[in-house]
Amino acid sequence: MRRACVAGNWKMNNSVQESISLVKELVPGLDKIENVDSVICPPFIALAKVSDLIKDSKIELGAQNLYWEEHGAYTGEVSPGMVGEIAEHVILGHSERRAYFQDTDESVNKKILAALKVGLKPILCIGETLEENEKGRTGDVVKRQLTGALKNVSIEDFGKMMIAYEPVWAIGTGKAATAEGANQVIKEYVRDEVASLYSDDAAEKVRILYGGSVKPENAREYFQQPDIDGALVGGASLKADAFIQITEAAA
Ligand code: 13P
Repeated sequence: MRRACVAGNWKMNNSVQESISLVKELVPGLDKIENVDSVICPPFIALAKVSDLIKDSKIELGAQNLYWEEHGAYTGEVSPGMVGEIAEHVILGHSERRAYFQDTDESVNKKILAALKVGLKPILCIGETLEENEKGRTGDVVKRQLTGALKNVSIEDFGKMMIAYEPVWAIGTGKAATAEGANQVIKEYVRDEVASLYSDDAAEKVRILYGGSVKPENAREYFQQPDIDGALVGGASLKADAFIQITEAAA
């Protein structure tokens, strides 16, 4: 049995003060919910403060990105060691970073290897665009993204990761994928590719989240699917009551 996980990707939202307010509402609500892992991923500047506020709670902390070099003259970047000092997880390969900040399968692979080296647990995001979906290329795209991102990642290290299947056309659009459709992609393409890259056992054990317009109203449908182990939530993770309700649905 895979343990459910609901992760909130705050994206570029919430100042430090706003993060503090949100976390203070989340802690009592999420601490009551059993059998689900809760992860929140605030912007870099709020990580240290949020880390202090959640240290006695069950909430785990994630970052939204990192750069693969250990240190040096890389103005504006944050290293794996810096992130690893504060957070447990890191979202890598998000489609917004692929679309706006030149992340590629190769750079995502470098980031994953660097994150694993410092003990961070990557949440690898994959997913097809609307055009790729309409051309029937979903399987090819997610398989290519997995193969590229997981190059030279050992089976032991892979065991520390989660995968988030986020169809690009469903992110922030209100047009969520159907629960059956998302489950089918995860089962037939994502778990299948993990089985061929690693093993049937690795494919069975890896937790795979769905992301894209998940809300309290539709969350339960996803969690009822056998191959969906939770959600990576964007917009609805910015409201404490919505994120708590989604997490309750996963319990
Ligand atoms: P929304 O939930 O806002 O569609 O965002 C999903 C997402 O991109 C999570 O990483």
